[in-house]
Amino acid sequence: MQNCNNTNSANLVDLSNIYYTDIFPIKENSSLSTREFLQRVIDICLEFIDESNDRSRPILRYNDPDEMKTKFNFNIGKEPINLEQIVHDCAQALYYQVRTAHPHYFNQLSCGLDIVSLAGEWLTAAANTNMFTYEIAPVFILMEHEVLKKMRHIIGFYDGDSILAPGGAISNLYAVIAARQKMFPEYKSKGLRALPQQLVLFTSEHSHYSIKSAGAVCGFGTDNVIEVPCDERGKMIPSELEKLVKIQYEMGNRPYFVNCTCGTTVLGAFDPINPIADICDKYNLWLHVDAAWGGGLLLSSKQRHKLDHIERAQSVTWNPHKLMGTLLQCSTIHFKQDGLLLETNEMCADYLFQQDKHYDTSYDTGDKVIQCGRHNDIFKLWIMWRSKGDKGYERHIDHLFEMRDYMLKGIKARGDKFHMVLENPECVNVSFWYIPSRLRNVPHDDERIKELGRITPILKARMMQKGTLMISYQPLGDIPNFFRNIISNSGVQKKDVDFLLDELDRLGHDL
Ligand SMILES: Cc1ncc(COP(=O)(O)O)c(C=O)c1O
Repeated sequence: MQNCNNTNSANLVDLSNIYYTDIFPIKENSSLSTREFLQRVIDICLEFIDESNDRSRPILRYNDPDEMKTKFNFNIGKEPINLEQIVHDCAQALYYQVRTAHPHYFNQLSCGLDIVSLAGEWLTAAANTNMFTYEIAPVFILMEHEVLKKMRHIIGFYDGDSILAPGGAISNLYAVIAARQKMFPEYKSKGLRALPQQLVLFTSEHSHYSIKSAGAVCGFGTDNVIEVPCDERGKMIPSELEKLVKIQYEMGNRPYFVNCTCGTTVLGAFDPINPIADICDKYNLWLHVDAAWGGGLLLSSKQRHKLDHIERAQSVTWNPHKLMGTLLQCSTIHFKQDGLLLETNEMCADYLFQQDKHYDTSYDTGDKVIQCGRHNDIFKLWIMWRSKGDKGYERHIDHLFEMRDYMLKGIKARGDKFHMVLENPECVNVSFWYIPSRLRNVPHDDERIKELGRITPILKARMMQKGTLMISYQPLGDIPNFFRNIISNSGVQKKDVDFLLDELDRLGHDL
């Protein structure tokens, strides 16, 4: 895929006279041409995977949006297009795609491409089923049942119920609405007027914005999602939470939901579950743990203590598509109480969830969710977990932390070229500034920090233009832009960490 036009090597079949009407499902007995077409597309995918794992190849070929519009033909015309062109389109789309599996891509919480999980995703696409009933997805429904039960046991919920949701943000929304159902069951039929008082949610100032978004979606209003201050490590301060809860009660409002983040998005901090759970018990609040990011630590005996007492929560979000490396998307939400998910969301649609079916309809999941149709996100997780076993997953998590430790050592060894934003991070997030030569011998005061915040996006732009490295950056509260490096790709080795630190210096020393 060095050249996006180069999709037609000598031994490949010519598809220029073949159209969609010449393959399945329109043309019967067209196995040969169907396979030829699919084989060409699979070859492109395989080449992309080879390239993504080749450290000498770029992560991306950057183009500005206006330039990209001139290079890629996005047009859908009136007439059919031959499959040779379609194969070319596939190659071109991947040619310009960022290689998120590249070992020098440290940009998002989801990095890497697990090959067994990919096989699962390909098989899932071939099966192309909907996850609402056992009737049309018997193996996958039972698989979901078993894997979610296993995850609940790992959390410490020995009963309960769970579901796969399209992302951690929606998983958090599920928790907010289930808590509302549990405490104010009249809401479901009567709406907002059934609520006795203004409901109030609490979440740390460093938590994911999806909690605020859930407050908006549910009609509570973002002003009623109260941000609780964090300590210098980014962890919620329980005494501040209690103070804010009391204030809301005094105002005549009804505090009802506390989100405790285990693995914050930027700093990777873990809120202290136990004291927060005590406050929830004292004031009759629902405790949700957002472990979308940090949930993977439950699989490592060395790391799981960071989520001690998670079983005290009423609900837990845990995204396998982040630290566990399952392909996007794969996100779970777990409840301690069985039956609540169904009670919250069931609409009893007669045309799907008939109660007189010839099998045990409790296996039908469709009425537990706010969607109707649901993608099969379980097979890619199940097959990946099955291939690794619990031991392989533990090794995966431990390896990520070893690489994180190697990076922290490497930063220290490079002296004044780096400045940590957070020393001793709890997760695999490493937050730092790169210091160019001219700023190395000056005090780390407000002026230098402001200047570092200004040059961080310039260094990021250089990375992308060169195509050698990707690390994300952001401001956080009063702290101006800094880099947040994520190691969640199991393919990352020490030499990649060395490369990352040295490449930052090559690209940024003169800034
Ligand atoms: C702590 C936390 N919760 C929730 C989410 C949302 O997850 P998703 O992107 O899968 O919706 C994120 C995403 O980064 C996150 O970091």
